[in-house]
Amino acid sequence: MATDPSMAVNLASLLLLIFASTATAYTNHTVGDAKGWHFNATTNTSATDYSAWAANQTFSLGDYLIFKTTTNQTVIQTYNVTNYRHCSADDDESDGDTFEYEGGSNNFNEELTIEVPLTIEGANYYFSGAADGIQCQQGMAFNIKVGHGQGLPPYLNQPPPPPYVTPSPPPPESTEQPSPVENDVGMTSAANVRAALCALTVLLFA
Ligand SMILES: *[C@@H]1O[C@H](CO)[C@@H](O)[C@H](O)[C@H]1NC(C)=O
Ligand SMILES: *[C@@H]1O[C@H](CO)[C@@H](O)[C@H](O)[C@H]1NC(C)=O
Ligand SMILES: *[C@@H]1O[C@H](CO)[C@@H](O)[C@H](O)[C@H]1NC(C)=O
Ligand SMILES: *[C@@H]1O[C@H](CO)[C@@H](O)[C@H](O)[C@H]1NC(C)=O
Ligand SMILES: *[C@@H]1O[C@H](CO)[C@@H](O)[C@H](O)[C@H]1NC(C)=O
Ligand SMILES: *[C@@H]1O[C@H](CO)[C@@H](O)[C@H](O)[C@H]1NC(C)=O
Repeated sequence: MATDPSMAVNLASLLLLIFASTATAYTNHTVGDAKGWHFNATTNTSATDYSAWAANQTFSLGDYLIFKTTTNQTVIQTYNVTNYRHCSADDDESDGDTFEYEGGSNNFNEELTIEVPLTIEGANYYFSGAADGIQCQQGMAFNIKVGHGQGLPPYLNQPPPPPYVTPSPPPPESTEQPSPVENDVGMTSAANVRAALCALTVLLFA
């Protein structure tokens, strides 16, 4: 089959268009814009009004919150409004509705960027966990509402685990080693792939 060069160019620009539109479809929201995610312990105030900042944005699944901050700060994310109201990260670990993001450094004042993907629709709450909740009480907190938008991109879409299936009882004569059988299956499928590749090559170059 002869290839028409203009067709190839059209295909390339189509792919580029698709790529460009997906690349611009999700928004990165820099929290507090140029002010970043900071707290001034001297004045006991946050660097900006984070609630006002958040109220002026539209958030969708697949967007990121970018926290430009230092190792002085942490970000607590919760879906539990009680924890948010109490500025408290204390949580029953098992329900998994509260997460702490931090830089993993024991030193103060190191620059840190925390990237938080928005993966759950509806109310999401964020606050600083530093200084035992005082920063949060002093305004270092905000809530957002995440809309569906175009849904999660595949790279953020964790498929749910498969449903639990009760294992069937082992067959009576299960003393045989299963590994040689698995090897055979593996070799068979590898052979199948090779055969398919050969067939494909023949088709392409016929
Ligand atoms: C948004 O941030 C994420 C995480 O850092 C990054 O992978 C992505 O390229 C950024 N997107 C844009 C449009 O800047
Ligand atoms: C905190 O605020 C005080 C008074 O406005 C200022 O002098 C100081 O530089 C600020 N500290 C930081 C770390 O921004
Ligand atoms: C900051 O404000 C909190 C109240 O939220 C207060 O308990 C604390 O003493 C204040 N700290 C300073 C340094 O003023
Ligand atoms: C809200 O966004 C608009 C347009 O981006 C901007 O002009 C305005 O200053 C913002 N307001 C606040 C409070 O950030
Ligand atoms: C970070 O915390 C240290 C220790 O409390 C303090 O000296 C420093 O000023 C803080 N830096 C910022 C940017 O708030
Ligand atoms: C929110 O967290 C509190 C404990 O901090 C817990 O008692 C409550 O049941 C949680 N609410 C939901 C809806 O999970």
